[in-house]
Amino acid sequence: SAAEKGGYASFMLKEIADQPKAVADTLLGRIDASGTLRLDEVRIPPHVLREADKVVVIACGTAYHAGMIAKYAIEHTTRLPCETELASEFRYRDPILDHRTLVIAISQSGETMDTLMALRHAREQGARVLAICNTNGSTIPRESDAVLYTHAGPEVAVASTKAFLTQLVACYLVALYLGQVRGTKWGDEIRTVVRQLSEIPRQVEEVLGTMEPVRELARTLADRNTVLFLGRHVGYPVALEGALKLKELAYMHAEGFAAGELKHGPIALVDEGLPVVVIVPSPRGRSVLHDKIVSNIQEIRARGARTVVIAEEGDEEVVPYADHLVRVPAVPTLLQPLVATVPLQVFACELATARGNEVDQPRNLAKSVTVE
Ligand code: AGP
Repeated sequence: SAAEKGGYASFMLKEIADQPKAVADTLLGRIDASGTLRLDEVRIPPHVLREADKVVVIACGTAYHAGMIAKYAIEHTTRLPCETELASEFRYRDPILDHRTLVIAISQSGETMDTLMALRHAREQGARVLAICNTNGSTIPRESDAVLYTHAGPEVAVASTKAFLTQLVACYLVALYLGQVRGTKWGDEIRTVVRQLSEIPRQVEEVLGTMEPVRELARTLADRNTVLFLGRHVGYPVALEGALKLKELAYMHAEGFAAGELKHGPIALVDEGLPVVVIVPSPRGRSVLHDKIVSNIQEIRARGARTVVIAEEGDEEVVPYADHLVRVPAVPTLLQPLVATVPLQVFACELATARGNEVDQPRNLAKSVTVE
């Protein structure tokens, strides 16, 4: 009903708008006054976490994209090798797992059959499974050794938005917690990231307040057949997520690429007027990546692409190459997906609406996929 949508035209729009609160709620009560993480709910004994020699993340769809970003955060914070795999592929390749493997299963619904079967397989091999889940008491957390709930609240629209942002928050918390328990990250370092995370709700709010040009742009692209998305590092999964949103909502051909792969094939797709969305990493810190992506933007633009550039405030270098510039607040590299994904959600939602599609219930899709 209209009341359930809180005045918004769709659940999806409401859920996009709910994101600052969803992120804040997922952080709430998990950090004490001294800036130490309190994740006692993760009921895997610290000695087990200390003895783990590998982390494997399994998930599907949007949750898989969160898992791809988790790999960057976990390896950076713990120096433990971490791999992320599609749950539907996982058990069919006879993966190497034992009691020292920590498996993280990410699922909004907690009922996704592919993820459930993968986690059962992992537990049969002796691995410990930590679920990151948004639905209390659902099957995946019930069958896991431990669970860290995301507090996005019920997500009704089939296309996942606020659940994704809170999955990212949970992944960063787990990465930091593993670092804290294993002694690879301590005190000040954890406090710094925690402080930056606590700024995110306000920064997402800021992004939401500047989305009108993105909606206008989306409407002008309603008759297109293809949109490409490029990113690097944690921007690569963001590109994949932007493309997935457009496929499921606008029924358009959309693909995400790691920008460094362009020259290995995909650049052949670029021709006059092709819209290409580029997620630009921060020019601070990892400037090497920034320079490389700026040359990618130049390359595709020289071949006629219409560039939609998502770049942090103050990044002036990209300005000459952006046909459309979308600003996001400056945040640490690892956290950029929390702000950079939001314009892509708005873009897909508006484009779908302009094409006359039902955004909450896209054709052929179900909110939770309970068959393999
Ligand atoms: C995303 O917009 C999806 N509709 C879909 O990819 C979803 O993320 C996937 O099916 C996994 O669902 P889950 O998080 O409930 O396990």
